[in-house]
Amino acid sequence: MWGKFIEEKIGEIRKNIGKGKAIMALSGGVDSSTTAVLAHKAIGNRLYVIFINTGLLRKGEPEFVIETFKKRFGMNLIYVDKRKEFFSSLKGIIDPEEKRKAIGKTFIDIFEEVANKINADFLIQGTIAPDCIESQKGIKSHHNVGGIPKELNLRIIDPLKDLFKNEVREVAKELNLPKEIYHRMPFPGPGLAIRVLGEVTPKKIAIVREANAIVEEEIENTNFKIWQAFAVLLGIKSTGMQKNMVRTYKEIIAIRIVESSNGMNANAMNIPFKLLQKMTYRIINEVPQVGRVLYDITDKPPATIEFEWLEVIMEETLNKVLNRIKDTILIKNKHYGNSFHQTIEEYGIVALLIRLTDKLNRLKTAYQYHESMEDTLLDIAGYAILGLIEIENTKGETNEKRR
Ligand code: XMP
Repeated sequence: MWGKFIEEKIGEIRKNIGKGKAIMALSGGVDSSTTAVLAHKAIGNRLYVIFINTGLLRKGEPEFVIETFKKRFGMNLIYVDKRKEFFSSLKGIIDPEEKRKAIGKTFIDIFEEVANKINADFLIQGTIAPDCIESQKGIKSHHNVGGIPKELNLRIIDPLKDLFKNEVREVAKELNLPKEIYHRMPFPGPGLAIRVLGEVTPKKIAIVREANAIVEEEIENTNFKIWQAFAVLLGIKSTGMQKNMVRTYKEIIAIRIVESSNGMNANAMNIPFKLLQKMTYRIINEVPQVGRVLYDITDKPPATIEFEWLEVIMEETLNKVLNRIKDTILIKNKHYGNSFHQTIEEYGIVALLIRLTDKLNRLKTAYQYHESMEDTLLDIAGYAILGLIEIENTKGETNEKRR
């Protein structure tokens, strides 16, 4: 059924690329793997497949990708280990959209570096229809949609851009890709970074990676027709009890298992309690940092499939900052009188908050010296208050002189 599509796409890629070279990123997921096989059939070893170890991949993924595509398919595979770069680009970021942007930027920088060495003319991408639709609607950003710098002069080819995931799987099957690939559940480009709520660190990724491997392993042993099954690290600690009655505070893992045909809508899977219990016991026993496991039973809509996190903490922190400023001003107000208070209320706080929220990137530098983002903000708020008071003092002096 997909034979004609495959022939047409191979022909199109061959015609577009001519005698040129192309690069593409391979993640090992069904989209990029199918794209790679199509492109490899079209232009052979003029296709350079770049596999970047972001440090955000699932357990065993790097080994699997190298084994399959380099050894089995004989592709020109370039393996780049950039774990450190990705982790440092994520430091201090808690908003999932910001994570996507940081990861996308690091991806593109690495691409630029490798592409310049290869001198490629084309960039082949595994973008599929929902990626384009959701990016256009602004639901979430995809790093492979529209992020390639123009200076690279790479022409872009998206052979699968009109297909939905179930169709891509059929194409993959027809292309004789191994079952592990065409059966693979979708895995987001930003990887485990969006399955750690809040700031990403290597330690947190290691926890969610282990828990995720258990969920995947257990679900693979069943015949459930699932769309995705994964683990999320909530990033908050919950109370527990050790055998000697000592209270502990350990991480919480949420399990999400959904059925869907294209990811646009999804239902939480009705999983037998016994299976959930088995996953839970294994996670608790095999991942010692975890002390509690939850199962998410929300459909999409209203919830999304990925389990992300709004900037609640940031809002709370900004409120604390605001209150700290107000308190300080009220105390100082006794000294300066009403007009100063009003000035600060009307201009100072608003301007300060705009500056704080606007310049979050700059905060990352300050953040290196603090335990948490909240400490950084509070510290900066302290300096800001001193700054405002100084300005007001100077104004006061000038007014005195005028008189
Ligand atoms: P949501 O969470 O929006 O997810 O219901 C729908 C599907 O998209 C996947 N997803 C992503 N894929 N980059 C990707 O390549 C992303 O940033 C991203 N975010 C979500 C998700 O796993 C699900 O299959």
